[in-house]
Amino acid sequence: TKVNYYSITTIQCILLYYYCAVITFFVFVVVLNTLIYCGHSQDLPRASVKIVSPQEPLYTGDRVTLQCYIPEYTDWTYVWYKDNGLLPSETSKTTTIILPNNAGQYQCQGKRTDQPQSSYISPNHSISTTALPTASVSVSPHGLLYSGETVTLQCDISDYTDWTFWWYRNEQLQSPGSPSKTITTLSDQVSQYQCQGRRTDRPQSSQRSVSLKISVTDQSKAVLSISPQWMNPGDSVTLNCEVKESSTGWRFSWYKTVPYRAGLPSLLDKSYSVEPLSGYGTTEESYTLSPAGPTDTGGYVCRAGRGDPVYYTDYSEPQFLWSRDLQSSVSVRISPNRTQHFTSKSLSLTCDLKGNSTGWRLMRYTETGVESGCSPNWGSITGSTCTITSTDTGDSGVYWCESGSGQYSNAVNITVSEINHTLTPRQSWSAHQ
Ligand SMILES: *[C@@H]1O[C@H](CO)[C@@H](O)[C@H](O)[C@H]1NC(C)=O
Ligand SMILES: *[C@@H]1O[C@H](CO)[C@@H](O)[C@H](O)[C@H]1NC(C)=O
Ligand SMILES: *[C@@H]1O[C@H](CO)[C@@H](O)[C@H](O)[C@H]1NC(C)=O
Ligand SMILES: *[C@@H]1O[C@H](CO)[C@@H](O)[C@H](O)[C@H]1NC(C)=O
Ligand SMILES: *[C@@H]1O[C@H](CO)[C@@H](O)[C@H](O)[C@H]1NC(C)=O
Repeated sequence: TKVNYYSITTIQCILLYYYCAVITFFVFVVVLNTLIYCGHSQDLPRASVKIVSPQEPLYTGDRVTLQCYIPEYTDWTYVWYKDNGLLPSETSKTTTIILPNNAGQYQCQGKRTDQPQSSYISPNHSISTTALPTASVSVSPHGLLYSGETVTLQCDISDYTDWTFWWYRNEQLQSPGSPSKTITTLSDQVSQYQCQGRRTDRPQSSQRSVSLKISVTDQSKAVLSISPQWMNPGDSVTLNCEVKESSTGWRFSWYKTVPYRAGLPSLLDKSYSVEPLSGYGTTEESYTLSPAGPTDTGGYVCRAGRGDPVYYTDYSEPQFLWSRDLQSSVSVRISPNRTQHFTSKSLSLTCDLKGNSTGWRLMRYTETGVESGCSPNWGSITGSTCTITSTDTGDSGVYWCESGSGQYSNAVNITVSEINHTLTPRQSWSAHQ
């Protein structure tokens, strides 16, 4: 039995040996096949597009260096694609593009002569620009600007700090400076202003602002109104000053007219000099005489100013305040003694002065404004009487006398109308009397 046992195990051993050899062979074939199979699917290296410089975010104007990155193998030549299209001239590992024109989707692929002969095409790398910070210019004061005025431009940039501000006037670069720019003495020429920020850190510039047009309007004039113009004792009277068109930042000053004297601040036509009622002025548009007394009778003007140095409007046309019961050393008489008159008739006005009669004058305020004197403007003068030989509707208005020291007489309203030939008999009789 011992031999028998041995011979059986020998046969089994031989069989086992062959069996193992066959198994090993098959395993070897399977492993080899697997290796060949896996080797084929794993040998294509992966490529990717990377930004070398600058650091993101990317801005308009940037030169961007892209690199095709393939971690395995060497001796690659590179193929670049933008938006699915081949870039035939780009064959190196890095490529430089300029924004914003070259923004797009970038891909690359490696090629070589040895195995593996290529890499995968990389995934898209999107190269896009981030908007530069915006700049905007504003001007103060707002609204209409006037020749000779001093204004301040302000540049505002939405983000970041440490800007140096570049100003452009009519597309021409001015010297770089601060965020505000003062223009002294505006000229009549229209100018376009723009600003832009520059700095050393990224983003190195802002967008250029849209242009701000600076143009001036004619010399401004203040307009004064007085309410009421005919005052009763105890009335309070309001002087209202206005600069035409909407513009801001004014301070208003009021003045009383006095007889003209060279050297004093005066109206342009030298009809009066002026004395201030208030100091430098207030932002309030109105000034109140409360209550107005008989000595407040007279002429008033106003003007407005703003800025530093202060720019002043012209003085307004004078407006007058008349008291109904004025007791004065000067008075006016009218002949014929009535307020309603008809055209082509004679009319005379006499100034009565008690005391010093030097420098007196007869004044009138008509549709065309204030006029002084009588001869040769609207009548002829004899002594202190002014005669209008043939009246006209334009002679309608308020008449008064002023003494040389600036005292006002009573004032008379005169209306001169055309004779209406279709008047009823009764009106006709009264008109011709
Ligand atoms: C890459 O981007 C282009 C352009 O937008 C597009 O047509 C293409 O399908 C993208 N390819 C991949 C793989 O996403
Ligand atoms: C003019 O008329 C007024 C009122 O009608 C009268 O008070 C005044 O005395 C008259 N003046 C003259 C000079 O007649
Ligand atoms: C009369 O008034 C004028 C002007 O107001 C003045 O210059 C002159 O000295 C005065 N004369 C007298 C006598 O008061
Ligand atoms: C003069 O005319 C104005 C406007 O018509 C009027 O308000 C005023 O009371 C008149 N003055 C006199 C003294 O009649
Ligand atoms: C003249 O008087 C008539 C009647 O009173 C009136 O209808 C007409 O409008 C007047 N004409 C003028 C120019 O005032």
